[in-house]
Amino acid sequence: MADTPMVAAHHVRLGSNSGQSMTRKDGLAKVTGKANYAADNRPEGLLHAVFAGASIARGRVTLLDTKAALAHPGVVHVMTPENTPALSQDPDEKTTPFTARIDVLQHNDVRYAGQPIAVVVAETLEAAIEGARLIKAEYDEQPARIGFDDGEAFTPEAVGISTPPKFATGDLEAQRKQAASSVSVVVETPLQYHNAMEPHAVVAAWDGDKLTVDMPNQAIGLAKPGIANYFGIPAENVTLRSPYLGGGFGSKAVLFGPQMLGILAARELKRPVKLALKRDQMFGPVQHRSATRQTVRYDIDADNRLLAFEHQANVSTSSFDNWLDGAANAGLSLYATPAISVAHSGTRFDTGTPGAMRAPGIATGSAVIECAIDMAAEKAGMDPLEFRLHNYAEKDHSNGKPYSAKALRECYETAANAFGWTDRPPKPGQMRDEDGLLTGWGMGTSIFHAPFFPAKARAVLRKDGTARAETSGADMGQGAWTALWQMAADGLGMAADDIDFDIGHSDLPDGSVAGGSAHTASAGGALFAAGNDVIRQLAEIATKDSDSPLFGAGNERLIGENGRLFKASDPSVGEPYTAILERAGIDEIEGQGRGNRDKASTETYAMFSHGAVFAEVKVDPDLYQVRVTRLIGAFAAGRIINPRLAKSQLTGGMIWGMSFALHEEGVHDKRTGRPLNNDFAGYHIPVLADVPHVEALLVDEDDPHVNDLGVKGVGELGITGTVGAIANAVWHAIGVRTPRYPIKIEDLL
Ligand code: MOS
Repeated sequence: MADTPMVAAHHVRLGSNSGQSMTRKDGLAKVTGKANYAADNRPEGLLHAVFAGASIARGRVTLLDTKAALAHPGVVHVMTPENTPALSQDPDEKTTPFTARIDVLQHNDVRYAGQPIAVVVAETLEAAIEGARLIKAEYDEQPARIGFDDGEAFTPEAVGISTPPKFATGDLEAQRKQAASSVSVVVETPLQYHNAMEPHAVVAAWDGDKLTVDMPNQAIGLAKPGIANYFGIPAENVTLRSPYLGGGFGSKAVLFGPQMLGILAARELKRPVKLALKRDQMFGPVQHRSATRQTVRYDIDADNRLLAFEHQANVSTSSFDNWLDGAANAGLSLYATPAISVAHSGTRFDTGTPGAMRAPGIATGSAVIECAIDMAAEKAGMDPLEFRLHNYAEKDHSNGKPYSAKALRECYETAANAFGWTDRPPKPGQMRDEDGLLTGWGMGTSIFHAPFFPAKARAVLRKDGTARAETSGADMGQGAWTALWQMAADGLGMAADDIDFDIGHSDLPDGSVAGGSAHTASAGGALFAAGNDVIRQLAEIATKDSDSPLFGAGNERLIGENGRLFKASDPSVGEPYTAILERAGIDEIEGQGRGNRDKASTETYAMFSHGAVFAEVKVDPDLYQVRVTRLIGAFAAGRIINPRLAKSQLTGGMIWGMSFALHEEGVHDKRTGRPLNNDFAGYHIPVLADVPHVEALLVDEDDPHVNDLGVKGVGELGITGTVGAIANAVWHAIGVRTPRYPIKIEDLL
């Protein structure tokens, strides 16, 4: 596909399908149980694999007794480091920045609790579970180090995938000399574990050296060569199917040990194998959000302008890998700050390795920054919204670039009006409701970068007037099946129901990562371009055909829409696609596409989605129990492809922000290093009864620079801003700021 054209669309336009609040194209399949998730697959001769996890967090396995497991009826094999063949690629080698070091029974070291130490394969799931329970291990145990005061400190080379760990601009000391006051805050955020509804799973089937894998995955184009490398086969021998994911949040963008063990077991036993993680196994080998200890300081002049911003983050990672949440990069482009200094340090915990988790870096960092800004507003004697507007960034102060588009002012206004912010008393503890509950209002700014990935897509128009469009893509529940379908249909100038649409397997052109909130822009841009490429070819045929009403119109702008090609200058002049193909005797036209972001734009502009979130909390004056009662956000993210689904994404993000602020925390036992709350009884997330009135409003934004279609992302935006808004509302209710998240009763007393 070297000659894949990178075209802005000239022959089609977004509009007939895009912009409509279509309901989910995959909705019926999902609610009727027809949607096939990875673990739903049961190929002939299937075996079940269950891994036994280490019960210590650091040390070595000195003895593994597998006799009882092997003797259990139905158990056919137990894999241990002793009998497991080496992979073709060292699983501790990092071949790309996306490659995580994984544990695949290649050594006896234990690096975190729950690390796979043996895999039991059986004829039934029950036998495999029982077999794993019967594995007896002895260890040479070292004390586990979990927590910033216990772990080993180190200086990181990068945060996130490859972002520099330090950044500075302006003269921090010189600005500070002019400051009238400053605020400084230290806040900790906990380990948080990705807990998608669908735990990671794999069904693997080998046919010689060809491999078929059913596995939920956010980045098929990376996973296919990644799996091939581990197993020493050409990438084209791997078929990966991932039509539906029950959530991903970043944890399904990377390959992990347990799923590779399922594939390995299938190769060893020459039968298909299913390995699905149990809920408690999600707390270790499949990444999590780093814990952080952050310090944020703002210096302010006598006119209440921010002069200097300093953010330091101590961030956790594992003992054996280096992924760090980039918390201290969250404020670089947020407020007008002439001097900026941010830096990360690292601390090694005896946990699994962290990774990207919804709004990585920004969620964690903004949770602290938004509190610091509110404290600065308080010091300035200004309303928090007024203070933010007073320090509104008209350019990205980290690099001086203008924003490609920034409708944040409109977001502030829209959300503040909907919330009724003007009635807010400035001092804390002033509002009580009719039940006597202390009521507080707080706000936060949402921001998330707008990256763009080089996705590819294909479209085919057939002579009967039907069409097909496809890209590997991934729907984690965010609505890719629907939004991408809408963009594909607009690309072909047809109704969505008249095209066949396909995503979610590796035979399709690489739709790139569903991550970074860039999937709609990237994969959707590719689909739209592929359709446009078809219609461009169709226009070439029509304008050269003397029997076409479009004959000779080669230099005019032609538009394909509703299955008809016509002159932009006079829509009455045109004809159906089918007529053009029929006369030309052509069965089908195939088009290829990639979305496009102009290189010059990338260098010229700072590209972000923005928003504002307002929160109301009620605090019991006797028990200090905190409840969120209202959350209202307004967001600007360029062109919105499907308002219903965009709001759904933003609402989900805001609820996760609430989860971050009040509920989520992975707790490890200090003595053993084992996770203490590795189930949904102990690992708290908001349930419906916790979720109040949540409203996401969309603000129009025309972004002519971010990419050809002006589409940005909404997947991660909603969590940012919300966390701080809730903490600020708690302060406004009772006048207390807590030193850590989640906000707990004991810290409020
Ligand atoms: Mo995301 S954390 O880019 O899936």
